[in-house]
Amino acid sequence: MSAAYVRALFDQYAGRFDAALRTRLAYRGPECLAAALEAACAAGSRPLRFARALDLGCGTGLAAPLLAPWVDRLEGVDLSPAMLAQAARLGLYAELREAEMGADLAAAEAGVYDLIAGADALCYVAELGQILGAARRALAPGGLMAVTLETHDGAGVILRDTLRFAHARAHLEAAAQAAGLAVVVLEAASTRTEKSAPVPGLVAVLEG
Ligand SMILES: C[S@@+](CC[C@H](N)C(=O)[O-])C[C@H]1O[C@@H](n2cnc3c(N)ncnc32)[C@H](O)[C@@H]1O
Repeated sequence: MSAAYVRALFDQYAGRFDAALRTRLAYRGPECLAAALEAACAAGSRPLRFARALDLGCGTGLAAPLLAPWVDRLEGVDLSPAMLAQAARLGLYAELREAEMGADLAAAEAGVYDLIAGADALCYVAELGQILGAARRALAPGGLMAVTLETHDGAGVILRDTLRFAHARAHLEAAAQAAGLAVVVLEAASTRTEKSAPVPGLVAVLEG
């Protein structure tokens, strides 16, 4: 979606975001992402420890309390200044940047991140190729990218009536392969309900 749309949407939503998502939508994107990361590290017999991490579309920082204990330096990037202001109040991010996440990743030094996380953020991006390619470049060798997505049973990417994109599993796999990222975990995981029904989703952990 356009940067102006995302910024306007989340700037007006920021003050009531946490309560609305947690209570009305039973949102659990950060928990899905953290569980997948734990599983990926356990399966690879690697420590659940990351020197430098970036939270893509960090919003109000709902993922930060789960990620911070595993990370030496946690950074966040988001388009919405009002969401970033809420995240800053947590005191868990070493740095917060107001930027478009693909551009922020593309501007990062190569190989600087050990972890790139994105809970419920890629559903605002139609084409995953640019972000995954930039993430691959920004990840240190063996670094992990953990994301949640909305999905659908068809092919490719669809724009849902909620104005969020849903990516087919095969689309994510193809984008990861094209970017040179190995799929370590890819599972069905619903991060929220809409009209009391779980929204079909995926959680993925990719390795650089
Ligand atoms: C649904 S919220 C999720 C926030 C947080 N990750 C969480 O789990 O609570 C999506 C966030 O992604 C941000 N966002 C969407 N598209 C973005 C983009 N292209 N670049 C940076 N931030 C973006 C929005 O501003 C919003 O704060």
